[in-house]
Amino acid sequence: ARRGTGILARYRDRLPVTAATPLITLGEGDTPLVFAERLSAELDVALYLKLEGLNPTGSFKDRGMVVAVAKALEAGRRAVIAASTGNTSASAAAYAARAGIRAVVIVPEGKIALGKLAQALVYGADVVAIAGNFDQGLRLVRELADRFGLAIVNSINPDRIEGQKTAAFEIVDALGRAPDVLAIPVGNAGNITAYWKGFVEYLPPDGPRPRMLGFEAEGAAAIVRGHPIAEPETIATAIRIGNPASWAGAVQAAEASGGAIDAVSDAEILAAYERLARREGIFVEPASAASVAGVIKARRAGRIRPGETVVAVLTGNGLKDPDTALKTPAEIRTLPAEAGALADHLGALLKEA
Ligand code: F0G
Repeated sequence: ARRGTGILARYRDRLPVTAATPLITLGEGDTPLVFAERLSAELDVALYLKLEGLNPTGSFKDRGMVVAVAKALEAGRRAVIAASTGNTSASAAAYAARAGIRAVVIVPEGKIALGKLAQALVYGADVVAIAGNFDQGLRLVRELADRFGLAIVNSINPDRIEGQKTAAFEIVDALGRAPDVLAIPVGNAGNITAYWKGFVEYLPPDGPRPRMLGFEAEGAAAIVRGHPIAEPETIATAIRIGNPASWAGAVQAAEASGGAIDAVSDAEILAAYERLARREGIFVEPASAASVAGVIKARRAGRIRPGETVVAVLTGNGLKDPDTALKTPAEIRTLPAEAGALADHLGALLKEA
């Protein structure tokens, strides 16, 4: 299909699209699958990166949101609501604006990356900050949506999962087959559920499927620990979630595929974040780096074998979270606006290298 036609038009036969579904789009989907030259050599695998941060609002949420908002329009809804750690709110706000309906987004006060907050505000959403976390926000949304006739566009809405499964289709098309391993961050666990559904639907029933490796942040690793976390904490605010709604879907994906759900520490996430930017030229938000941190960990543990083909899903754009970016150990050299000063600096710099 032509670039920019969007996933509703491209995959209408595989999505809940009827004659009455408006084929809205902001050009979501059709994201690049980029080979990671250096990381592949360093890890002795063939590592591909699925750049979901190149979607219209900078995250994978757009694939699911376009379906959820189209179905809300089809059902005659005039407003949508979501709880969010930030990306869902940005995406809901954009697609609601596109559709000409209202979006109400509930975010944890002070715990959402700056770029995401800016997006929700600029797209014109009704932004509500609560003195609580994502899990509490989602509980409020479930409690009140019906009373006010609001369509819930969190991933508990099956239309979100339907849209997000299309990324698995694209990976299979790009590689010409299933990867050996699919590595993905896990927060509310909708996306790992969606990818697995996508692989199962798209791949031949008797052929190979990827092992699904999902990675939670250590301070928010409810599935790994086996119980909800009342006060989840991680630098990766996108996955700061203590009671994932699609818990069962994540466990099912891991078990049915011969994969696993594991946890990575904030230190491992930040190391992968910097390595992706400096060694591959790819700037992602911290939650997205959890997939690559997980690949590194799983490779060391022998859970990924030498030579295997691995796809890591990079869920969100690095520009979303400038605060984390500016805390990386790098400095700005301030100089007078003089050729001499700059010449000295360049001389020292290039001698070092
Ligand atoms: N990566 C990013 C960048 C995210 O924003 C999220 C979830 C995930 C990974 C995890 O995906 O929840 O399907 O397991 N963000 C949601 C939000 C919760 O509100 O934006 P998941």
